[in-house]
Formats: sequence, structure tokens, C-alpha cells
Amino acid sequence: MRKDLLGLEGLSREEIEEILDTADVMREHLDKGEINLDYCRGTSVVNLFYENSTRTRTSFENATRFLGANQVNIAVASSSVAKGESMYDTVRTLESIKNNIVVIRHSMAGTPHYIAKKVDAHIVNAGDGQHEHPTQALLDMLTMRRHFGRLEGLTVAIIGDIKYSRVARSNIFGLLTMGAKVKLFGIKTLMPKGIEEMGATICNSIEEAIQGSDVIMGLRIQLERQTSGQFPTIKEYFTEYGITMDRMKLANENAIIMHPAPVNRGVEISGEAVDSDCSRIFEQVTNGLAVRMAIIKLMVEGK
Ligand code: CP
Repeated sequence: MRKDLLGLEGLSREEIEEILDTADVMREHLDKGEINLDYCRGTSVVNLFYENSTRTRTSFENATRFLGANQVNIAVASSSVAKGESMYDTVRTLESIKNNIVVIRHSMAGTPHYIAKKVDAHIVNAGDGQHEHPTQALLDMLTMRRHFGRLEGLTVAIIGDIKYSRVARSNIFGLLTMGAKVKLFGIKTLMPKGIEEMGATICNSIEEAIQGSDVIMGLRIQLERQTSGQFPTIKEYFTEYGITMDRMKLANENAIIMHPAPVNRGVEISGEAVDSDCSRIFEQVTNGLAVRMAIIKLMVEGK
């Protein structure tokens, strides 16, 4: 494991496999109810989230505690950040009070990369703007691997707001490295120019994306990152582009539905699809806990 986890771009197959294999062991602990583990006693992990989060922040919190490490949560709005303290000074301060791992989410792409070069603490990118969300893509790949027993040769359709999605970018990097095929579909205003250069196949309709795919991954419309309306009404969007059980008939046998969440039922996906037997959306959340335990454990061992 490297000092920092900043993105999946450039990570090798072996590096990804090491994290997924360790996450499988962590998942076994969770399934047995073993949440008082001793792997990381003496470590302190701090969450520094400048953007909202439910899943990522709380799963890092639980991962830290379950591994026997100390857990610190910074409420950015009531910290000295509100008095104008810089990101660098904030992280140096957190490092100076003996936090070994800093988990950062920020709306500005590249923030964790900038900080990682300047401090000795391990930096984990918990989402930087539209750039990458590596722990999400790792938990997504763990979910696929646990269902299919492999990643090599799978066809994964990512559908929705590709343009503003750090989840899509990290999944494209990771899945292509692991030998999967990635298909992308979104309305034209939500497809970034040149995305095909990453190695994914661009589809012209939701049906084309779902047809013959093993994994159907929906993405939320990221209204908070849009500068102006980039799609018609929500009702029209769902009718034309929503993931539904009817459309899922086009997918391969044994196909699964995934979504990083938060989910907007009736916008990018139907409620019926979220709750269906082929949905792995809540399984993804549990696997997120296992992946974050694995990352903390591997960072501590690497030190
Ligand atoms: N998928 C994800 O990153 O969720 P949160 O924003 O709740 O952390």
C-alpha cells in the first residue's frame, strides 16, 4: 500500500487486488459480528469533510473504531477553517496532535493530492470535486467481485450524470485496470467531452447500455455541481433515462443493479429497482465499511 490513497488512476492490478483481498477478510469479520478488533491500536484517524456525506464519513468512523484505532471527526463549519485557516495549516495541525491518517473530502479537485505532498500523515481521498472517489470505486469492485467471483471480463454499464461524477471516473480507471469492459450512457449535456479516451465505450441509448451488461450502475444527477439546467424535467428524465425493472430485462442473466447513493428514487432509478432482488445498493454500503477498514489496516501495516 502506498503512503496515500488519492485515486485509482495509476494503481496497478496487484495494488487493487491487495485492497480487495484485505477487504474480503474485513467483511468476514463483519459478518461474524467481530467489531472489536485490535489491528490498528495506537493509530488515530481524522475525518476532514468539507462536503456533505452520510456513507463515506460514517463508514470511515466505524472502520476506525472497529479496528481499535482512535477516531476524530472535524466539524468544518465550527472549526478554525471558519476563521480562514488554510487547508494546509489545518492538516499540519491535525498531524501535530498525532493523527496518522487524514481522510479528506473537498469540492476542489486535486486538494488531497496537494496536501499529501506536504505532510507525513497518510491522506485518503474521500472525494475531490468531479475528479475521483477511490474508496467508492473499490467498494463497487468488491461488490461485483463478491457477486460474480471475478472482475475480468465483466461488462459494467454506468448510466446517468457522467460529467460531474467522480465515482464514474474512479470506476473507469479501476475496472479497466482489472480487465472489465465499461459502457457509459448519459444525456449529451451530462457526458464530458473526450470521455471515450479513457477507454470506455459510449452508448447512444439506455437500452444499448443495459443490453448484455452484467452490472447496471446508476448515478445521481449532481444538481449541486451544475451551473445551469442540463436536463429536461425530472419526470421526462426518468421516463427517457431511468433504470427500471422493465429495462433490466435487457441485461445479462444474474445481472445486478448498483448505485453509489444517495439515490433519488423516481429520477435516475425506480424505487422498485432499488428494492429489487438484483439490487446490491445496501450491500455496497456494507462493503464500503470493509474496504475502508482494509485501507486503514494496510496503511498502518505499511508504516
Ligand atoms: N456514495 C457516497 O459517497 O455517499 P456519501 O456522499 O453519503 O458519502
